[in-house]
Amino acid sequence: MYYSAPVFDGEFTGRVVINTTNSEGFIDRFITKHAGYTFLKRFQIGRHEYFVFEINDTQRTRKISKEIEDFDIKNLKLDSEKDNLKVRRDAFSTLKKYIEKHITEHRESFDPENIKDFIDMYLVAEKDESERTSVLNEAAALSLIMDMFAAGTDTTATTLDWSFLWMIQYPDVQKRCQEEITKVIGPGRMVRLSDRRHLSYTEATFMEIHRLSNTAIFTIPHTAVCDTTINGFKIPKNTIIVPNLISVHLDETIWRDPKEFNPGRFLNQSNDIINKEYLIPFSSGPRACPGESLARSELFLIFSNLLHRFEFSKVDPDEILSFEGITGVTTTPSPYRLKADLR
Ligand code: HEM
Repeated sequence: MYYSAPVFDGEFTGRVVINTTNSEGFIDRFITKHAGYTFLKRFQIGRHEYFVFEINDTQRTRKISKEIEDFDIKNLKLDSEKDNLKVRRDAFSTLKKYIEKHITEHRESFDPENIKDFIDMYLVAEKDESERTSVLNEAAALSLIMDMFAAGTDTTATTLDWSFLWMIQYPDVQKRCQEEITKVIGPGRMVRLSDRRHLSYTEATFMEIHRLSNTAIFTIPHTAVCDTTINGFKIPKNTIIVPNLISVHLDETIWRDPKEFNPGRFLNQSNDIINKEYLIPFSSGPRACPGESLARSELFLIFSNLLHRFEFSKVDPDEILSFEGITGVTTTPSPYRLKADLR
């Protein structure tokens, strides 16, 4: 079980969404037993159940929170989980060493006349800022790059993983993207970023992949900094809020037949992109994903260039593919096999 953990630093009253993969007895043990939580709603996505409840008593909240933590820790003490934790710690430490080594090498070989990459640009900014602030420093560089690795690699790779699953399930959509790419680009060169605005169907297809794949089902937890009201709902200061992105992407009041894979919903009769304001795989607002434009560019280039060169299909045409997904921090497709033939 895991949950979106509230951080208790002061008074807290609010709602929390808990996501559990093992809910047996969960409500009995932690909610109805303790008056501190008022259970509001339970819902299910795939194999995962989600509980939304309100916390109305700070004292109790602290106590219950501790119990939930203990419960979680007990689970972590299982041997397999302990191994997982060690694997994660080791991976983190390897990544940290790798990045530290690169920052050191960049400092040693720094040449202001030859700025090669992000670390060089960071070093320039660090020099410019050093007289005014101490915000940009060695530790900040490390954590910034770690953030980019942690938040930017699995999300982007997983979305690509989904994209080819959809393409082998819908060969007609794949073919239409390929026809568009061939018509606009021709056989002789690779697709560039500047081609994107001429490839509307391919763009709409990727939007539909985002909408139905939901690599990030939830955002990162946020806290209301003051009392506020949204759509008539009172949200007291300090409420932990975990927006649920999939609920927007499958909302029947926004999308016709929301469960159907249909890139056409993002195009009008003149082949212009429409409805993009309702698609929020990177969340919305001031704390939305800062990697959005990088991710969109990477995804477009990789997806369109691979479709340009290869035809993707199921290994066994009769195989029934699963679109349920496995939810962890991101939601990944279940393992699947595909065939790639040169076009
Ligand atoms: C398909 C790819 C990606 C998806 C679906 C995605 C999605 C998200 C979502 C939903 C959030 C939470 C926003 C919120 O809490 O409201 C987020 C946060 C974040 N993302 Fe991405 N992301 C992707 C790629 C990237 C890339 C490439 C980078 C950087 C290189 C990145 C860096 C971050 C960071 C640093 C945050 C935390 C922002 C904060 O705390 O304010 N992401 N992302």
